[in-house]
Amino acid sequence: MKFFADTADVDAIRELNELGLLDGVTTNPSLIMKSGRDILEVTKEICDIVDGPVSAEVIATESDAMIAEGKKLAAIADNIAVKVPLTLDGLKACKVLSEDGHMVNVTLCFSANQALLAAKAGATFISPFIGRLDDINLDGMELISEIRQVYDNYAFETQILAASIRTVNHVKDAAMIGADVMTAPPGVIKSLASHPLTDKGLAAFLADSKAAGIKIL
Ligand code: E4P
Repeated sequence: MKFFADTADVDAIRELNELGLLDGVTTNPSLIMKSGRDILEVTKEICDIVDGPVSAEVIATESDAMIAEGKKLAAIADNIAVKVPLTLDGLKACKVLSEDGHMVNVTLCFSANQALLAAKAGATFISPFIGRLDDINLDGMELISEIRQVYDNYAFETQILAASIRTVNHVKDAAMIGADVMTAPPGVIKSLASHPLTDKGLAAFLADSKAAGIKIL
């Protein structure tokens, strides 16, 4: 499973990248707003840090304007994935941009039928939003299972990018189902390493090594 960081915070991206945990980054207009930076400038900086795909989202709603924005975003760096919303205009833009050789991430997916359309439009990634479905008492993880089955039925190459991840259990469940990629806030990614028994066991080992006077270097 590839790990993408769902943030436009360059310091957090740099930290995860140095840990060797990062395969890419996803941003959206809300995350760009949170960063307080210019979209073109911050996206370029992120692309310079990370080798893998960096999703940058269009803000137009009509296909020709989405394509123009997508081309401008794609010109920032070779590793840009143009993010378009799952609307009919977004699907049209996806097809044109994909055929033009650009990576495309179709976002705001909330049903298996929407995911089927994105695959047929040549999307590189489909982004089903788990947390936002859970927020309205639907089952975000069931959607990941349904899309996995549909894509496997027809050998679609579109990668399932589990998005709107809020908890470490979301990551585990998406990995068990076979999502190709997950994108999560940096805090969730770092939390994957935490376990109270690891902390307790390490404290005991360190206390014993001190008591025994163990030295390695
Ligand atoms: C994905 O690409 C989106 O940016 C993101 O995962 C949305 O997450 P949220 O529902 O927590 O805002």
